[in-house]
Amino acid sequence: MAPADDRRRVARLREEIRRHNRLYYEQARPEISDAAYDALVRELRALEARHPELVTPESPTQRPGGRPARAFAPVAHRVAMLSLDDVASTAELRAFAGRVARALPGARVGWVCEPKVDGLGVALLYRRGRFARGATRGDGRVGEDVTRNLAALRAVPKRLRGRLARVGDLEVRGEAFMPRAAFETLNRALEAAGAPAFANPRNAAAGSVRQKDARVTAGRPLDVFLYEISHAPGHALASHWEALGALRRAGFRTSPLNRRCPDVDAAVRYCERLARGRARLVYDADGAVVKVDRLELQRRLGRTSHHPRWALALKFQARQATTVVEGIRVQVGRTGVLTPVATLSPVRLAGVVISSVTLHNEDEIARKDVRVGDTVLLERAGDVIPHVVGVVRARRPRGARPYRFPRRCPACGARAARGPEEAHRLCTNDACPARLKERLRHFGSRRAMGLDGLGGAAVGRLVDRGLVRDVADLYRLRAPRVARLPGFARKSAENLVGAIAASRRRGLERLLDALGVPGVGAHVARLLAARFGTLDGLARASRAELARVPGIGPVLARSVVDHLADRRNRRLLARLAAARVGAA
Ligand code: IVH
Repeated sequence: MAPADDRRRVARLREEIRRHNRLYYEQARPEISDAAYDALVRELRALEARHPELVTPESPTQRPGGRPARAFAPVAHRVAMLSLDDVASTAELRAFAGRVARALPGARVGWVCEPKVDGLGVALLYRRGRFARGATRGDGRVGEDVTRNLAALRAVPKRLRGRLARVGDLEVRGEAFMPRAAFETLNRALEAAGAPAFANPRNAAAGSVRQKDARVTAGRPLDVFLYEISHAPGHALASHWEALGALRRAGFRTSPLNRRCPDVDAAVRYCERLARGRARLVYDADGAVVKVDRLELQRRLGRTSHHPRWALALKFQARQATTVVEGIRVQVGRTGVLTPVATLSPVRLAGVVISSVTLHNEDEIARKDVRVGDTVLLERAGDVIPHVVGVVRARRPRGARPYRFPRRCPACGARAARGPEEAHRLCTNDACPARLKERLRHFGSRRAMGLDGLGGAAVGRLVDRGLVRDVADLYRLRAPRVARLPGFARKSAENLVGAIAASRRRGLERLLDALGVPGVGAHVARLLAARFGTLDGLARASRAELARVPGIGPVLARSVVDHLADRRNRRLLARLAAARVGAA
């Protein structure tokens, strides 16, 4: 009989995994990394292995993937699109090869190794060489009909060449993906248009394939690498390697990094080489796939309901470590957003010492149930900021209490409000000193007005002593008064006041970026400065005039106009203009 704790945990994990499946498959907006997702599934599998009586056919461990979304017509795959079993070490890859060899006594097993490109699985149907239908993988059994969208891609040939063109009913499979550089460019364009950016290339690929309007998909820089001929009656192929060649001759693209490896040693070397060169790949890959080459042997090995027994994914090392949460503090951003941050016992992770990590927001803490004293698993995937994968429940100290998110701003005590649609709680006090400090720090940052000497400590003193109540006050500071503040001397005060004076001539573009108008970053600031020339010119612009600036959409135009219409913001701009700030 499973203890009540395990039973509750199993229920909780299933709910979590289903939620992430929905985010991933239906909304193309996953909230967690693959490694974090895999950790949840692994924990569930381990609990189910310990308590087989808890396994139900509905458990996410019993079926690959999530449910398909409803925006597109459903397509039942004739042959299920399976997942891949995956491992994290070359030792496990060798163990897999050993099992394969034992299952095929006397056979010489050769391998094909491929990058596991991180995109969206698609199945393409051709009738007598003509593109007839394209579908997403969906939950593996039922996908979505995205024929029109895939037809809009250059990487999907509309007519095949060579022998595959003569097959009456051909189905091929592959991965649609967005190269990293193209993803960056797309995100910049989306941001400039005031549209939400994608979190990573995989989301961008999934979001682009699943557009309602195929013309949008056509404009997206998507590529497709084919990795399987799943149905080709009458076409005699002996090996996977031959299938890849046939795909290329038919006009498809396959990964140029695919290799044939005569034995498992060569496959291991391939995986190690690919992992070392991972950062140099032009697309995101999350591992290598190792496949038995001969199709006859593949057939003999068969499959489970989840994955083929003739292939294995070796996942790249997710860089992870565990450490203890020593406290949770709440930071106040310049827009008033309250962000919880865990202070950690310092830990080395992929070459850097980490002593704090963001917990994002109230819901995120509740979802992960992070408590002070908990041991957490941290991950740093690629070069990105570390994040908490989850809590190591077995190491929770007795008496650790669920974290209660403050209902008041920790800096000024004002009510911290949260709208029904919002993920964040916001300080409601426009004059909150913590928000002002953040605004000043942003204003003085190198990218903005470049005020060396206006670091966190200096800002703190200027605000706490009441010398600065907004950014315009900076231009009224006098060196002798600043010099009397603790932490300043005559020279440092003169330097700061001198730097502030010199920043008057940084130009409108830098000033607009520095002001932190919602939606206006460096790129939009450049567009606005080029079009309107002066603060005054911008302040007088109508929403329609703003929306006509190439690269500025209606949402952004509205945000800028609303900001400029606010009485306090108008007064601030007038004072900056009077202090002659923003000249070139
Ligand atoms: S083989 C039956 N090869 O990884 C064989 N899959 O977890 C199953 N993927 O949804 C797929 N690159 O979309 C295979 N070279 C590759 C792949 C690959 C990426 C994706 C695929 C699938 C997922 C499996």
